[in-house]
Amino acid sequence: MTRSIPFAASVAAAVAFCAAAFAQAPAAAGSAEIGSQKVQMCQGCHGIPGWRTAYPEVYRVPKIAGQHQAYIVKALQEYKSGARTHPSMRAIAASLSDADMANVAAYYAQLGLRVAQ
Ligand code: HEC
Repeated sequence: MTRSIPFAASVAAAVAFCAAAFAQAPAAAGSAEIGSQKVQMCQGCHGIPGWRTAYPEVYRVPKIAGQHQAYIVKALQEYKSGARTHPSMRAIAASLSDADMANVAAYYAQLGLRVAQ
């Protein structure tokens, strides 16, 4: 699956979906607190205003704060398995255990809620 064209549309759709889904979110499988200690390696790319990264060159990075927890976990698993092919994200996801994925996903999901309040 190529990620180029439908990215913005899929994020918009996911955000709209999440607004409804969070109203009755099931019990979280990951710990946002533990996840917050694991995201230093994500922030360099995903935490920049405008969602651009500056190294090695300026390019767009998806906004994951506020993304649905299950979506983040699934995306990371797909990078790890090779279903998604982006080289940097594949290397990063390969270094994460299932528990790590659940925790960082929990962190980013609640981060979006906090920003929205
Ligand atoms: C070197 C920069 C970089 C780092 C570090 C990085 N990412 Fe990414 N990430 C990207 C880019 C670029 C994409 C878009 C890749 C693509 O097109 O598939 C992406 C995509 C993603 C996606 C999919 C988003 C979507 O909307 O489908 C998730 C989830 C994600 N990253 C989570 C993380 C997490 C969690 C970490 C830290 C453990 C992390 N990333 C670290 C650059 C980075």
